[in-house]
Amino acid sequence: MRAAPDPPLAQAAGLLARSRRGLAFTGAGVSAESGISTFRGEGGLWSKYDPVQTASLAGFLADPAVYWRVSQDRWQTYRRAEPNPAHLALAGLEATGHLTAVVTQNTDGLHRRAGSRHIVELHGEGGRVRCLDCGAEEPRAEVQARLSTELPPLCRRCDGRHLKPTVVFFGEGLPAAALSAAIELASSCDLLLIVGTSLTVSPAATLPALAVRRGVPVVMVNPEPTPLDSWADAVLRGPAGTILPALTRLVRGRGDSSPVL
Ligand code: OAD
Repeated sequence: MRAAPDPPLAQAAGLLARSRRGLAFTGAGVSAESGISTFRGEGGLWSKYDPVQTASLAGFLADPAVYWRVSQDRWQTYRRAEPNPAHLALAGLEATGHLTAVVTQNTDGLHRRAGSRHIVELHGEGGRVRCLDCGAEEPRAEVQARLSTELPPLCRRCDGRHLKPTVVFFGEGLPAAALSAAIELASSCDLLLIVGTSLTVSPAATLPALAVRRGVPVVMVNPEPTPLDSWADAVLRGPAGTILPALTRLVRGRGDSSPVL
């Protein structure tokens, strides 16, 4: 005899199966099982580094070398990271028409590598670097490669010392096009699947409210409590790399429920 599925998982699968414009909203937790540490909590990045010194615009302008020194470890981790079953499950749910897009706070590019097609990167993209003095851009890998002899790295066009990755630092605005795309998606989705975010950094953390206040079903995937749990129709407590594949299998098992594409 097969065990009955966990009720919240079954409930979430039913909601996803019925959705036609589902939206995934992800944070660092979705990449945790790819070996990329989250920001908050035990072992999080902010327990090792001061976010003001290493991830704020003011700190960066004061001394870009601090950022680049810290970046060396993190970059190696990013380069080694592969999409995990959570990224793959989200890409699969998009391919089968249950999700229309992923709005992510992550800058690691793993949703794209997993096969998600419609991705909104709210906090920018970590693979490129832009000179704040002259606007020249170059691939991040080239800048990281010269750090052993050049710290901070200098712009190849203007010799400026403010080469910054194209990710959003504290004190900067979000990329306007990404923010308006995310607002549009959160305002029109018919289900919100929130995965691996502490929902503590705004404006990103305010996006779910655009769905919640329309009464749209919310599914939460996180091993820890979040501020929106009481608004969620199903709270799936556990690692995304286990929960999302299980959810996908249940959604697919509901033979009558594939959206008409
Ligand atoms: P956080 O580090 O704040 O939160 C990560 C969340 O992932 C927590 O709620 C964890 O419980 C959860 N988590 C951990 N492991 C997980 C797993 N295996 N599966 C699912 N969830 C898991 O990361 P974010 O919410 O993404 O911004 O942080 C938001 C922003 O704060 C980041 O984009 C970054 C940071 O400062 C900037 O730097 C501008």
